Amino acid sequence: AGTGKFFVGGNWKCNGTKDSISKLVSDLNNAKLEPVVDVVVVPPFVYINHVKSLLNDRIEISAQNSWVGKGGAFTGEISVEQLKDLGVKWVILGHSERRHIIGENDEFIGKKAAYALSEGLGVIACIGELLEEREAGKTFDVIYQQLKAFADSVPSWDNIVIAYEPVWAIGTGKVATPQQAQEVHVAVRDWLKKNVSAEVASRTRIIYGGSVNGSNSADLAKQEDIDGFLVGGASLKGPEFAVIVNSVT
Ligand code: G3P
Repeated sequence: AGTGKFFVGGNWKCNGTKDSISKLVSDLNNAKLEPVVDVVVVPPFVYINHVKSLLNDRIEISAQNSWVGKGGAFTGEISVEQLKDLGVKWVILGHSERRHIIGENDEFIGKKAAYALSEGLGVIACIGELLEEREAGKTFDVIYQQLKAFADSVPSWDNIVIAYEPVWAIGTGKVATPQQAQEVHVAVRDWLKKNVSAEVASRTRIIYGGSVNGSNSADLAKQEDIDGFLVGGASLKGPEFAVIVNSVT
């Protein structure tokens, strides 16, 4: 870890019930969390209000997605304004599950990021290559293209955290090695330096996601350019999530 305040997000994805989420929130409220870490949980939309009513102020709430513009006749969508109304501070955009399962493209994701930022939400901007792209030696091409799509749209990088999530590591138990993650994080930082500014490159937090758990987070956190984590499966267990938060170095 090297840049800015360590940032750990727990992306609950499409998991949980009122009961299981109440228990998870109570575990998080009781956990001892290092004060030098920004901690964010990302519940399914339908439970945001429930979580907000139970969770202590130490932890912020993110949404898993948001609509690309102002709300209105967009059946099934959730607007940035509605998220703000519930006290949400962040939104994840460009998650691989939305890119590859739902089919969102770079341009649409860039526009969503621009809109969310213009309305004052922070954006957790996800990038990452598929296994076949890595095996074909295209990892850097893919992440540079995804970064460019964000850079082409966003008005400023002040409120963006970049999450590098190699798709082959998500939910597979195959975590990237600290060296593999570090190599890409450095490349992201260099790209920002060349294409945005040295200042943005040095202060933007670049977090890693993909099979992070309580046993591998400490080694990853030692890497110079890993500024935190975006955690899926292991964030559904309060005590293990606390271990990951506290792996800050
Ligand atoms: O957004 C976090 C994520 O995609 C990683 O999921 O289950 O591999 O930690 P998981």
